[in-house]
Amino acid sequence: KPTPPPPPRPAPLLLLLLLGRANGLFPEEPPPLSVAPRDYLNHYPVFVGSGPGRLTPTEGADDLNIQRVLRVNRTLFIGDRDNLYRVELEPPTTTELRYQRKLTWRSNPSDINVCRMKGKQEGECRNFVKVLLLRDESTLFVCGSNAFNPVCANYSMDTLQPLGDNISGMARCPYDPKHANVALFSEGMLFTATVTDFLAIDAVIYRSLGDRPTLRTVKHDSKWFKEPYFVHAVEWGSHIYFFFREIAMELNYLEKVVVSRVARVCKNDLGGSPRVLEKQWTSFLKARLNCSVPGDSHFYFNVLQAVTGVVSLGGRPVVLAVFSTPSNSIPGSAVCAFDMTQVAAVFEGRFREQKSPESIWTPVPEDQVPRPRPGCCAAPGMQYNASSAFPDEILNFVKTHPLMDEAVPSLGHAPWIVRTLMRHQLTRVAVDVGAGPWGNHTVVFLGSEVGTVLKFLIWPNASTSGTTGPSVFLEEFETYRPDRCGRSGGGEAGQRLLSLELDTASGGLLAAFPRCVVRVPVARCQQYSGCMKNCIGSQDPYCGWAPDGSCIFLSSGTRGAFEQDVSGASTAGLGDCTGLLRASLAEERAGLVSVNLLVTSSVAAFVVGAVVSGFSVGWYVGLRERRAGISIQLHNSVLGVSAGGRGAWRRRDGGGAASADPTSPPPPFQASPQPRLLACVGVCVCVCACRVRVQGARKGREVCVCACPRGLLPACVCVTAGHACSVPVCVRGGGPSGLSVG
Ligand SMILES: *[C@@H]1O[C@H](CO)[C@@H](O)[C@H](O)[C@H]1NC(C)=O
Ligand SMILES: *[C@@H]1O[C@H](CO)[C@@H](O)[C@H](O)[C@H]1NC(C)=O
Ligand SMILES: *[C@@H]1O[C@H](CO)[C@@H](O)[C@H](O)[C@H]1NC(C)=O
Ligand SMILES: *[C@@H]1O[C@H](CO)[C@@H](O)[C@H](O)[C@H]1NC(C)=O
Ligand SMILES: *[C@@H]1O[C@H](CO)[C@@H](O)[C@H](O)[C@H]1NC(C)=O
Ligand SMILES: *[C@@H]1O[C@H](CO)[C@@H](O)[C@H](O)[C@H]1NC(C)=O
Ligand SMILES: *[C@@H]1O[C@H](CO)[C@@H](O)[C@H](O)[C@H]1NC(C)=O
Repeated sequence: KPTPPPPPRPAPLLLLLLLGRANGLFPEEPPPLSVAPRDYLNHYPVFVGSGPGRLTPTEGADDLNIQRVLRVNRTLFIGDRDNLYRVELEPPTTTELRYQRKLTWRSNPSDINVCRMKGKQEGECRNFVKVLLLRDESTLFVCGSNAFNPVCANYSMDTLQPLGDNISGMARCPYDPKHANVALFSEGMLFTATVTDFLAIDAVIYRSLGDRPTLRTVKHDSKWFKEPYFVHAVEWGSHIYFFFREIAMELNYLEKVVVSRVARVCKNDLGGSPRVLEKQWTSFLKARLNCSVPGDSHFYFNVLQAVTGVVSLGGRPVVLAVFSTPSNSIPGSAVCAFDMTQVAAVFEGRFREQKSPESIWTPVPEDQVPRPRPGCCAAPGMQYNASSAFPDEILNFVKTHPLMDEAVPSLGHAPWIVRTLMRHQLTRVAVDVGAGPWGNHTVVFLGSEVGTVLKFLIWPNASTSGTTGPSVFLEEFETYRPDRCGRSGGGEAGQRLLSLELDTASGGLLAAFPRCVVRVPVARCQQYSGCMKNCIGSQDPYCGWAPDGSCIFLSSGTRGAFEQDVSGASTAGLGDCTGLLRASLAEERAGLVSVNLLVTSSVAAFVVGAVVSGFSVGWYVGLRERRAGISIQLHNSVLGVSAGGRGAWRRRDGGGAASADPTSPPPPFQASPQPRLLACVGVCVCVCACRVRVQGARKGREVCVCACPRGLLPACVCVTAGHACSVPVCVRGGGPSGLSVG
């Protein structure tokens, strides 16, 4: 059913207007070149816990509480509450992803009783799968919270049957399913970062299994950890690097400040001597990650949310990390890139210390650092062939000086992507370094808390210089399917994006939520079909213009004939898209109130503080010209305001003055067999490429929903400063808004 526009909310609007001014601090935040219509979602395959055979009506997402997913080649393993699923991604399905195997792994009644006696809720006293790793070619290693008594075991990848005995999950898996943990196998050893106790006080980086002694971080020492939240771990060279955030001990502020860190340990560490650091790391060091926007008032994004694996970008080994601001501050997210060689270099730099509990933290003078360098990896053939042979002086220094003085600089000394005026923070990241037909483009997918994905094209070599910025905001699309994954009735917790993983072989992204996993294609090229300018102007490396007049998905290695211009150099000379823009302009000339005027007047109303009308309309023509603009976000609706600079509004009413800069390329827009200008009332302006189905009529205007006949994909594209219409509603005839449609 078409929904009426949301009521105006003057207070947040004015607040955001003010923030818009503060926004001058940040780099420009252009809107996406394209926003995928929400209806596309209904075509994406989803896993909601169904098995082979027919769907029974009672089967559904209600009982799922997914914790972890692991993709191994073309197989997806899903760790749930009390269950483990195996889902084959091949052959590709267009409807439902079903499991081929399911293993139920419940906690014993006795474990549940003990859990309940310790005062935990019934819902928490279950077995949540928190570690799901590949151990060898045919074995999975799985840990469950097991009603606050974690256990781990080997499982057969093929049958999902347990292999061998359970082992304790302590220090490998959290007790409380709400706690973040990371786990990684390297050389047969399991590296974990989690909390080791019921009360979640003792945070630890732990090594176990394999043939080296188990090691841990020093217990209850706030120099080592202070309320850490572990995000990711990667193996690089002879070390394992852990990414996390924690309370900064070195910043003596009145309030607690969270900072982001990278810590590392030597894989071959054997622990200290019986006197110092016995069964503890001798190589643990940590450093701050610096993701900040340069300027007069240096702005830090301190809250690390997600990190990619090490990828090669522009010839460097790089991790991309998503940061946000603290939840009680201006909402904002940023993506910074860190070169692993620079990370490693910081660990070769100065140490930082606090001489007495009251003094400030200062660098340790180089002549006070013992030799060999504390934190280095001992190896046979060196002066000390094992870490346990280090003299006490070195071990004592490591124990008391885990913090490095310098922060790790981000590549280019600035974030590669900044988003400050979004309702939801960005919390997940996936990167494709082999995008496009030649596999030589880099595309970054950023997932928001609620599953909106922002897709960026990255130019790694442009990052270190140039003000144009190293990224192009290609597309925005949704991944959460409320029809299958549960309406937001379950609160936003049910819509929390747990993970976002690239599945290159299928050209898809796997987005996991507590109640479902959705597979979403990395691109929706067909929405540009019928219009060369749109297809090429999308700058999407996954899309190409085929000679038959369609816009096709180009997987890696596509060698057919197609045209593409990822650099977006020019869309001039590509012809026009049949009459579309003309049609709407013609209507305007016919004497109807133009949308531009409407926007201009409502903006004027906001600015002079007059009554806020219920209308906010983004105008797609402003898309590419939005420079130095303010973006105002009003719930689902986004109003793109173009002010000054090249971003003059096109006004064609009598007093007509400003015309658009003729040098700026026209925006890509939607081709349409039946050109129609559709207005999503109060939300945004759409151009629709499919047949309009009349849904009902109200008060002299027809209200319709953009829908498509079977076989065609719906392609109502609402281009605004960053959001798609959830329900594109269109107005026909001279309704109250004065909009005219086809
Ligand atoms: C392993 O632990 C689970 C959960 O407590 C239990 O159901 C299972 O029986 C245990 N398996 C073995 C072999 O002990
Ligand atoms: C995944 O595929 C690669 C390449 O085909 C193969 O070498 C590897 O053994 C596969 N991994 C598993 C766990 O089957
Ligand atoms: C789990 O599998 C690994 C090899 O994949 C083996 O070394 C180990 O002993 C197994 N553990 C248990 C408890 O069976
Ligand atoms: C980026 O620059 C590096 C070194 O300057 C070079 O090795 C690499 O090939 C470049 N990458 C691209 C995509 O041009
Ligand atoms: C280190 O050297 C000592 C003798 O100098 C030897 O006994 C020991 O096995 C060596 N340790 C390692 C890990 O190579
Ligand atoms: C972070 O990087 C910026 C830009 O290079 C620099 O000005 C600032 O001092 C750095 N902050 C820290 C804590 O190192
Ligand atoms: C990617 O490869 C194609 C074909 O070799 C080349 O034309 C294009 O310039 C390359 N793009 C980048 C960014 O390296």
